[in-house]
Amino acid sequence: QNNTAKRQWAEEDFGKTIPSRHVHAHKGSHGKGLIIGGCSEMPGSLAMATKAALKAGAGLVAAGTTEKVISMIAAMCPEATYMILPEKDGYITGCTASPISNYDAIAVGIGLGRREETRHVVAELLNNAPCPLLIDADGLYHLKYQLEMLKQRSEPTIITPHPGEMAMLLGISISDLLSAPFHYTRDFAKANRVYIILKGKHTIITSPEGRQAMESSGNPGLAKGGTGDVLTGISLAMMMQQQELFDALCNACFIHGKSADIQIEEKQTYYDLMATDVIDGISKVYRAFP
Ligand code: APR
Ligand code: MG
Repeated sequence: QNNTAKRQWAEEDFGKTIPSRHVHAHKGSHGKGLIIGGCSEMPGSLAMATKAALKAGAGLVAAGTTEKVISMIAAMCPEATYMILPEKDGYITGCTASPISNYDAIAVGIGLGRREETRHVVAELLNNAPCPLLIDADGLYHLKYQLEMLKQRSEPTIITPHPGEMAMLLGISISDLLSAPFHYTRDFAKANRVYIILKGKHTIITSPEGRQAMESSGNPGLAKGGTGDVLTGISLAMMMQQQELFDALCNACFIHGKSADIQIEEKQTYYDLMATDVIDGISKVYRAFP
């Protein structure tokens, strides 16, 4: 297959590539993930990503954040474990003093805040995360100041920007980006050796080699705070379970969008769909597309 061809990621692709659950599986078979983020003003983002990762099939998920955020969200997600990270004024300031070497995938950035003291967290992970590293939301803001670190990583890095964040990383306007989104994301992915999920009505997934696919499920009900955090959690779960990262990211977008679509078909409207409903809908996607 032509490596550069852009194509629509479809139900058949999902069916063919989603890993099956073995009868002898144990929680270790389905990966161990870590999500670092959250602050006192944005604790919910971490709760939703953590829950979404478990719901999407992750074996074990740890949430790394401040002690205060842990006390705020632990009851919302009793299946997770928690890692207390150092903080200043309620914002995380570091993470590599804690063990990060035994995870299959790590996500960073949601609800992190934009304090300068926090920038270091993203740097530490870019330097030391010995596994695929996903960067989203405020993590992308901090990445902008240390873009050159991307090329130095030996393990894959994945970024999941919405158009505003992608335009910020590129240093161009959103309208320029959207006039040629395949072109800009492909150039950036190749130049910086990253996987990109450029989110939108039509989400574009790009590999560091320049392979591209479009995933078009989802609906305007998703235009609401928190849905991106849910995608981060689902992506982490897929990254831990699939050898082929490109397929994993496409499948994460598929599960996210289809969940929202099924919720709209079955019971909700564009007005009242909530990010947490998208987490609940993950079960329905697995039942509808076995
Ligand atoms: N149709 C289909 N999908 C949509 C639509 C739409 N009209 N609108 C949004 N989506 C999907 C996107 O594809 C993406 O998967 O919803 C998700 C929205 O993700 P984000 O833009 O990251 O939104 P959000 O969850 O609010 O992010 C939380 O992180 O990126 C920061 O600044 C952002 O503060 C915000 C926070
Ligand atoms: Mg977001």
